[in-house]
Amino acid sequence: MTTTAPAPVLEAISIGKSYGHNTVLEDVSLEVYPGEVVCIIGPSGAGKSTFLRTLNRLEVPDTGEVWVGGEPMGFELRSGRLHELSERRLSAQRAKTGMVFQHFNLFPHLTVLGNVMEGPVQVQRRRSREVREEAVAILERVGLGDKLTHYPGQLSGGQRQRVAIARAVAMKPLFLLFDEPTSALDPELVGEVLAVMAGLAKDGMTMLVVTHEMAFARQVADRVVFMADGGIIEQGPVAQVLEQPREPRTRQFLQRVLE
Ligand SMILES: Nc1ncnc2c1ncn2[C@@H]1O[C@H](COP(=O)(O)OP(=O)(O)OP(=O)(O)O)[C@@H](O)[C@H]1O
Ligand SMILES: [Mg+2]
Repeated sequence: MTTTAPAPVLEAISIGKSYGHNTVLEDVSLEVYPGEVVCIIGPSGAGKSTFLRTLNRLEVPDTGEVWVGGEPMGFELRSGRLHELSERRLSAQRAKTGMVFQHFNLFPHLTVLGNVMEGPVQVQRRRSREVREEAVAILERVGLGDKLTHYPGQLSGGQRQRVAIARAVAMKPLFLLFDEPTSALDPELVGEVLAVMAGLAKDGMTMLVVTHEMAFARQVADRVVFMADGGIIEQGPVAQVLEQPREPRTRQFLQRVLE
């Protein structure tokens, strides 16, 4: 009997990105497997946000390839050659990756329920009755079942970020990308957002999370990636990278953040 290793749901191969003379990413490769939670840590300016944005092509990498669910991001394979996708088809492909930002980017004129239903109905053209039922269930799951008709302006930062997470989940993405989802929040609101993320992880959601929350990484992540100076310095199981880092740069960084 043979067993086959599962295919990665996300694969970045040798990503490079420069702004003018400033090389921001160089030869960054990463694989994420179904059900994994991977945390990216590293100092400011390391290129973490830029890397995340190249994964769903909000930022176009100069070199390298990204594969999402076995498909080349931004391209389609036709007669053995890669052809660039139109904006419209790129948007549809991007919907396979859910992104949660530091600043929630909710639609201020839509209710909480409206924000969560918008993508599935407008982008995925799904029937609103079915989407509504799912959206209500997701909002209940993130603890906002009693806020369906509120507007973002009537919510706390933690509640808004939970709406943003619900909105990403409603698109049924293959995985979620988080870019410092709690760093714009008042300290007392951080816990409720991390708890929702931990719940999603427990339910098997695949997640790639840029975070400064070391306790979250320790408790929830399967793997930690340390980035600095536009590259991955080291990566491995949580305990190895956080407790016994191999690289001096990782040790230095951890010493500083854990002080
Ligand atoms: N649109 C842009 N144009 C020019 N330079 C950029 C742009 N976006 C990012 N950079 C530069 O790329 C480098 C990496 O930025 P990035 O935001 O990816 O770092 P980061 O690791 O996310 O940092 P932080 O922890 O502060 O969020 C920085 O030097 C930044 O100035
Ligand atoms: Mg950043």
